[in-house]
Amino acid sequence: MSQADLIWMNGELVAWEDAKVHVLTHALHYGTGVFEGIRAYDTPRGTAIFRHADHIDRLFHSARMYLMEIPYTREEIRAATHETIVRNNLKSCYIRPLVYRGAGPMGLYPLDCPIDVMIAVWEWAPYLGEEGKRSGVRGKVSSFRRISSDAVIPAAKATGQYVNSVLAKVEVDKAGYEEAILLDDRGMVCEGSGENLFVIKDGVIATPGFSADILGGINRASAITIARDLGYEVVERDIARGELYLADEIFMTGTAAELTPLREVDDRPVGTGEPGAITRAIQSDFEDALHGRSERYADWLDVVAAPAPAT
Ligand SMILES: Cc1ncc(COP(=O)(O)O)c(C=O)c1O
Repeated sequence: MSQADLIWMNGELVAWEDAKVHVLTHALHYGTGVFEGIRAYDTPRGTAIFRHADHIDRLFHSARMYLMEIPYTREEIRAATHETIVRNNLKSCYIRPLVYRGAGPMGLYPLDCPIDVMIAVWEWAPYLGEEGKRSGVRGKVSSFRRISSDAVIPAAKATGQYVNSVLAKVEVDKAGYEEAILLDDRGMVCEGSGENLFVIKDGVIATPGFSADILGGINRASAITIARDLGYEVVERDIARGELYLADEIFMTGTAAELTPLREVDDRPVGTGEPGAITRAIQSDFEDALHGRSERYADWLDVVAAPAPAT
């Protein structure tokens, strides 16, 4: 991660080192924030944000689920994001919008606290590494189950909910693996710490559906579209843990990790132990879409207008 110059906070661009909050910020104590993870790529059409409108929609949906009214419109958030990228002179970057309950009355009741908004951008390599994208990573099923709908709202991307992913990630990292796989509360395969998961067996691609308490990944949706456009059958269904051990191929999708194959799960090689042909085919079209090399998926990109030259 490398530092940028400016962060957008409540309508103003402030210096990176001055982007601070009060220690009584409600979200700091109780996790009352919602956020997004988005990427912009350097494409032949200029800097372009991948599926920006879908990410902004999910931010608003997450806020709504937590009874937070964002004090900006979708278009204002979009424009602020463009401005933040341009003013930081970044051609490609990770984008982190965060809507959070600020400093106000303490206690669990949040609705009298202000709603603050910030958008930060920075240059960030793929979360599981370029080498991970090429050769696959080693995954391990975590002993921490994925948060479930009877306790929180797995469909929301809320800050407090991420202590679940943090516990799983640290557990498998300390055990020597690169990514955690979380089972849902029924013991069915759910997703990674920050990615959705796809299992391929005999040419058919399966991925857990919403009843498995997944986060509805935007890259998950993109991978499903690409796979179907390539002619593959994709089914959303429950996946048992043992299916991971017998799969021909497994891959994960997420904004931070992009499309990363798994080469091992719980010390068992996935298929041949190398990313398979179907994963490669989807990954190739997916990379083309991200980097603006695809005509077919060109409308997935929100091009950031370069500032007009000074007159
Ligand atoms: C828990 C979790 N699941 C799945 C995903 C994948 O979502 P997306 O593809 O929209 O980045 C993410 C990343 O945002 C995540 O944090």
